[in-house]
Amino acid sequence: MQSTQRFYILTGASRGLGRSLARALLKPGIELLCLSRGRDEGLEDAAAAAGGVATQWQVDLAQPAAVAGRLQAWLTERGPDGLELVALVNNAALLEQPGPIESQSPQAIEAGLAVGLLAPMLLSRALLLGSAGWELDRRLLNISSGLGRRPLAGVATYCAVKAGLDHFTRTLAEEQQGQAWPLKAVSLAPGIIDTGMQVQLRGSDARHFAAQPVFENLHHSGVLDSPEAAAAKLVAWLHLPDFGHEAVADIRD
Ligand SMILES: NC(=O)c1ccc[n+]([C@@H]2O[C@H](COP(=O)([O-])OP(=O)(O)OC[C@H]3O[C@@H](n4cnc5c(N)ncnc54)[C@H](OP(=O)(O)O)[C@@H]3O)[C@@H](O)[C@H]2O)c1
Repeated sequence: MQSTQRFYILTGASRGLGRSLARALLKPGIELLCLSRGRDEGLEDAAAAAGGVATQWQVDLAQPAAVAGRLQAWLTERGPDGLELVALVNNAALLEQPGPIESQSPQAIEAGLAVGLLAPMLLSRALLLGSAGWELDRRLLNISSGLGRRPLAGVATYCAVKAGLDHFTRTLAEEQQGQAWPLKAVSLAPGIIDTGMQVQLRGSDARHFAAQPVFENLHHSGVLDSPEAAAAKLVAWLHLPDFGHEAVADIRD
C-alpha cells in the first residue's frame, strides 16, 4: 500500500490561478501532476516539503490529443493503489486578444477552443478510461467563468469555450448518474482574480473592446480576488462532501 491518498491532475499550473491552486493542494500524502507549457520552479521541492509529490509535464494543450493519450496510459499504469480520491482540475484557458470575431485569426480561434474546451473534454475522457474500474472518489472540476453565462462583445471565443465547458459538464454529469463510482463533475465560475488574464483585459485597446474601462475600474476599485484567496475557495469546493450536487455553479453564490 502506497502512502498517497489523493491524486490531483491540474492544467495551467505554471502561473496565475493554477499556480496558486497547485500550491494550495500541497498536503501530506498527495500526488500532483501538473500540465502546462511552462513550469513552476520550486513546485517539486515545495511538494516534498509538504510531504507530497509533484510532477510537471511541459505540454501544449493546444494539441491535446497526444497529452490525453499520455495521461490515460499513465493512469492505467499507475492504478488505484493507495488512493481514496482522484481529481482532474481543468484550469488552463487562453483568452484571445479582445476584438470582434472577424478580427480574430482562424489560428487564434482554434487555439482558444483547443486549450479551453477540447483539452478539458479529452482529458476528462482520459480520466474516465484511465481510472475505469477504480472503486474510489473520482472528481472533475472545470474552471468556468461568468462569461460562459453572459456574452461580452470582444471575447466571443472565450465566451463560447466557457459556455461549452458548462454544458459539457452538465451532460457528463447526466451520463455518470447511476454509476457505482461516478465521475462527479462541476463547472465552477471562480470569481474575478488578479492574474495575467485580467492584465490582458484591462490592457486591451478600448477601440476594439468596449468593456476595457470596466476591467480597468475593477482593478482600481480593488475588488479582484488574489490568486491565493481564489485558490483557497476552489480547493475547499473541490473537497466538499456533496461535490457534484450542482453541475454548474458560481463560487460567489
Ligand atoms: N482571472 C480571472 O479573473 C478569471 C475569471 C474567470 C475565470 N477564470 C478562469 O480561471 C482559469 C485560470 O485563469 P488565469 O486567470 O489564471 O489565467 P492565466 O494567468 O492567463 O493563466 C493561464 C494558465 O493556462 C495555461 N495555458 C495557456 N495556454 C496553454 C497551452 N497551450 N497549453 C498548456 N497550458 C496553457 C498557462 O500555462 P503556460 O502558459 O505555461 O502554458 C497558465 O498556467 C482559466 O480557466 C480562466 O478562464 C479566470
